[in-house]
Amino acid sequence: MHEELGELANHFSQIAHHYDDKHDSEAKPIYNACASLVIEHAGPRPDDVVLDLGTGTGLIAFALADDAGHVVGRDISEGMIEQAQTKATDSGIENVEFGYGEFRDPQHVGEVDVIVSNFSLHHLPDEGKREAIEVIADLDPRRFVLGDAMFFGSSDPEEPLFGHGVDAATVGMLVDVLTDVGFVVMAVERVHDQVGVLVAEQADDGAEIDTVSTEPTSEK
Ligand SMILES: C[S@@+](CC[C@H](N)C(=O)[O-])C[C@H]1O[C@@H](n2cnc3c(N)ncnc32)[C@H](O)[C@@H]1O
Repeated sequence: MHEELGELANHFSQIAHHYDDKHDSEAKPIYNACASLVIEHAGPRPDDVVLDLGTGTGLIAFALADDAGHVVGRDISEGMIEQAQTKATDSGIENVEFGYGEFRDPQHVGEVDVIVSNFSLHHLPDEGKREAIEVIADLDPRRFVLGDAMFFGSSDPEEPLFGHGVDAATVGMLVDVLTDVGFVVMAVERVHDQVGVLVAEQADDGAEIDTVSTEPTSEK
């Protein structure tokens, strides 16, 4: 693992045991709104294989397990993976599996129908994000849902919502890359000036754009 990725993985391993309780900041409603939209847009079918990249403690993976056939969570942090595995064992949810995987090397063999990622891709610089999206397209999912920090306005806001470790891209850059690798962007959900959800589908799946919302989700 690259040194920077190793440091990031260690950071998340150190906070893994209280990660699920830590969202008590002013950004919590925004994080929750983003996660809900990712779950809603993922919409897996009963036989679908779902891949959750940067799964952390598996919040999105567990939320999709009821509706999907099988859910695979991948992350670079051993501590976060252990937490997710413990939650799977404790809850008796059997159609989820967790293991090591990096965005550009997800370590998944086999078909994938839906790929999701929530609040993780921002840890890579823009060039890394591009490489990750290329890898995601190569896995040939029907749908890719990305929830993350992303700039709808200025890419240099005077008051960044998130601090250290967040390298948000502009929405325009992400949409360009998704389009370059063959996705059609079906929906753009603006949760906040600096947070959004992008829903992309394979261009050759006869995708029809059904929602394009740039209205901010209410932040309660
Ligand atoms: C803020 S947490 C989000 C976790 C989860 N998706 C959620 O919504 O709660 C970010 C996660 O991304 C993982 N991560 C960071 N960089 C990654 C990379 N290059 N490849 C895979 N996972 C990565 C971290 O280890 C961490 O678990």
